[in-house]
Amino acid sequence: MAVVVAVSSRSFLCCLLFLFIAISQTSAQYNYVSCDNNKGNYTAESTYQTNLNTLLSNLTSNTQINYGFYNFSYGQNSDEVNAIGLCRGDVMPDECRSCLNDARDNLTQLCPNQKEAILYHDKCMLRYSNRSIFGLMETKPSYYMYNTNNATEVYQFNQVLSSLMRILTGIAASGDSRRKYAAASAGASNFQTIYGAVQCTPDLSRQECFHCLFGAIAEIPTGKIGGRVGRPSCNIRYENYTFYDEPAYAPAPSPLM
Ligand SMILES: *[C@@H]1O[C@H](CO)[C@@H](O)[C@H](O)[C@H]1NC(C)=O
Ligand SMILES: *[C@@H]1O[C@H](CO)[C@@H](O)[C@H](O)[C@H]1NC(C)=O
Ligand SMILES: *[C@@H]1O[C@H](CO)[C@@H](O)[C@H](O)[C@H]1NC(C)=O
Ligand SMILES: *[C@@H]1O[C@H](CO)[C@@H](O)[C@H](O)[C@H]1NC(C)=O
Ligand SMILES: *[C@@H]1O[C@H](CO)[C@@H](O)[C@H](O)[C@H]1NC(C)=O
Ligand SMILES: *[C@@H]1O[C@H](CO)[C@@H](O)[C@H](O)[C@H]1NC(C)=O
Ligand SMILES: *[C@@H]1O[C@H](CO)[C@@H](O)[C@H](O)[C@H]1NC(C)=O
Repeated sequence: MAVVVAVSSRSFLCCLLFLFIAISQTSAQYNYVSCDNNKGNYTAESTYQTNLNTLLSNLTSNTQINYGFYNFSYGQNSDEVNAIGLCRGDVMPDECRSCLNDARDNLTQLCPNQKEAILYHDKCMLRYSNRSIFGLMETKPSYYMYNTNNATEVYQFNQVLSSLMRILTGIAASGDSRRKYAAASAGASNFQTIYGAVQCTPDLSRQECFHCLFGAIAEIPTGKIGGRVGRPSCNIRYENYTFYDEPAYAPAPSPLM
């Protein structure tokens, strides 16, 4: 059993809208979708829609991209569409493209006329907007999700977890403009192992990546054996089981501790 908590910003009310959605792990098809009604709507058959469809069908057509980050625009002036696709750092290029193509189908179906929308899946994230979203550190709309099982020896567990997250954040933030990702495991008490992965969109600066990840880490509920936080510019996840493969585009970081 997992619990998903989505937080979407409603700036005109200067407050947060909390949506509580409980889903079971087996029926989770994507973790969270947000269609932003406040950022504008487009109508069917409009130039914006045509541009969006062209951009998204072509987003992953550049087969030179093997680092899991797609940032492209299409269209002119007020009909320009900007999209970002990001795959988890261990996802191979073919699987990444297929995840983003599924995300495109799902997102355009679930958000049929919103100019701005985002979908979070275990292995990829897709977002688009009529405004420029490149190189911007954005923290909303975000979601978090956790495993309801409690860790034993919570104090020691949290110490190992926060040190693992701190080390991974340092490695990810120091990544280059193609990849800001790190994953590794650490041993906690009672023969438990914590597996963690953190990632920023690689168009962020080192400082912005730190900032985004520290904020995401602060949203992890304490004492749970697994959790994740997704933000437009970064994401984190930890579990007591392996959920990532060896990184797809770089030497594997050596295990910590
Ligand atoms: C995006 O669309 C909204 C609503 O149509 C509009 O108010 C806004 O100015 C547009 N943004 C840009 C950058 O074109
Ligand atoms: C967009 O459409 C939704 C309903 O589909 C509506 O609730 C919302 O107010 C509209 N947003 C704008 C900015 O017109
Ligand atoms: C589609 O993508 C290819 C490869 O990235 C690019 O050369 C081409 O211009 C794109 N086509 C459109 C219509 O954007
Ligand atoms: C898209 O939706 C299908 C069917 O609901 C689901 O199985 C799949 O995991 C989703 N994929 C993405 C990337 O959203
Ligand atoms: C975890 O701990 C909380 C608070 O101590 C408790 O309410 C909850 O039932 C526990 N969850 C499980 C799955 O045991
Ligand atoms: C897209 O991402 C690549 C790789 O990070 C970067 O070199 C490029 O400048 C970005 N393009 C835009 C339009 O931001
Ligand atoms: C993860 O934690 C759960 C709940 O405490 C436990 O049942 C499971 O065996 C653990 N998994 C591993 C691989 O240790």
